[in-house]
Amino acid sequence: MAGPKKLFIKSYGCQMNVYDSERMAEALGAEGYVSVGTAEEADMVLLNTCHIREKAAEKVYSDLGRLRPLKVANPGLKIGVAGCVAQAEGEEILRRMPLVDLVVGPQSYHRLPAMAKAVAGGARAIDTDFPAEDKFDHLPERPAPSVGPTAFLTVQEGCDKFCAFCVVPYTRGAEVSRPADRILSEARALVEKGAREITLLGQNVNAWHGGDGGLGRLVRDLAQIDGLLRIRYTTSHPNDMDDGLIAAHGEVDKLMPYLHLPVQSGSDRILKAMARKHTAAQYLDLIGRIRAARPDILLTSDFIVGFPGETESDFQATLDLIEAVGYGTAFSFKYSARPGTPAAEKTPVAADVADERLHRLQALLSRQQKAMQESMVGRELGVLFEKPGRMPGQITGKSDYNHAVHVLGDAALTGTLQRVRITRSDPNSLAGELVPAP
Ligand code: 5AD
Ligand code: SF4
Repeated sequence: MAGPKKLFIKSYGCQMNVYDSERMAEALGAEGYVSVGTAEEADMVLLNTCHIREKAAEKVYSDLGRLRPLKVANPGLKIGVAGCVAQAEGEEILRRMPLVDLVVGPQSYHRLPAMAKAVAGGARAIDTDFPAEDKFDHLPERPAPSVGPTAFLTVQEGCDKFCAFCVVPYTRGAEVSRPADRILSEARALVEKGAREITLLGQNVNAWHGGDGGLGRLVRDLAQIDGLLRIRYTTSHPNDMDDGLIAAHGEVDKLMPYLHLPVQSGSDRILKAMARKHTAAQYLDLIGRIRAARPDILLTSDFIVGFPGETESDFQATLDLIEAVGYGTAFSFKYSARPGTPAAEKTPVAADVADERLHRLQALLSRQQKAMQESMVGRELGVLFEKPGRMPGQITGKSDYNHAVHVLGDAALTGTLQRVRITRSDPNSLAGELVPAP
């Protein structure tokens, strides 16, 4: 008798895709699929793709090319493309890539089991609708018997901001918030199964409006759950940081002193061209108000260099903003023209100029990251241990400020929150020692 069908999902891009991949595995799990660790072992391979920059999208086509020999060796292998490339280029994928059996957009994952059945019967299936129903209402309750100490929970999807460079409003659709009661019951279930930290996810998570009082209220309600020790959220738009959420940063102990608040540029001219709908001064004022509520908060951001029309003085304004804020770390990208977005019509900055700016920007951000990490040395911080470290006898976790911390300690401490004295700053992590309980 044939064994269970084996599923391999590869996730590209953001944390929302990681969460969606878990939910897809659960939905197909209910149909008898078990997850395996490599494409070679699988009967079905799903690529959960990202369309945010050209490089990410192109990777999908090269990965599909690499799956071809597997399909030749095993004609029964089913190959699916999910995520934002599926949404944006679904028809084209089916046309260009005969080896693809299934294309499913991010809002249609609840239809995956039915699609998998159709595909098993030899059909090719595509679904890139934006259905009226909420996919999460139709996906099974999370059945995993246990989850790790940290979990993601999507509370909001989509974006109405239409920044001039960004495909998200087109691939993920309009902003939709999940209702508070669903989120709270999912959070309770996660904590029952072992989660100690929950990161709330959304393309515009701080625009969540699935209940009264916005995300600040939701954070306060989540903080009431016994056994849940930490709450984080990502990713946010500056214009949606309301007073209630800022106040929560000062008042809710479980809300970690860490905030990812992308600004993209420090030049008002470029911010306007990007349709970010705020100025550099407004962003700095907001940072001031957040720091008044929580002085030690660690801030991170996203930056784009080489946006069409960016001059050296615009770029200098971005460096000035970074100096003024002082980030713990940040992501920085060279502008990538995306089909269908307004900015794609504009004349790009020369590639060598953009490369050189990215280099300077990253040098400044690395200096700030190093300084921030070094400021942690000698401090005693909370660390939630997540897994064994790379060295024997070592365990690894995250500090309140989201730095990876390696400590000598028993694997049995996994899932516990301990006091750790930071002893050393390494390139992308900290080292520390356990502080004995008093
Ligand atoms: N080119 C480069 N970076 C982009 N991002 C979004 N769209 C583009 C693009 N077209 C970056 C932004 C965003 C992050 C998720 O990806 O900085 O905040
Ligand atoms: Fe893209 Fe802007 Fe929406 Fe973020 S806020 S997802 S950058 S359009």
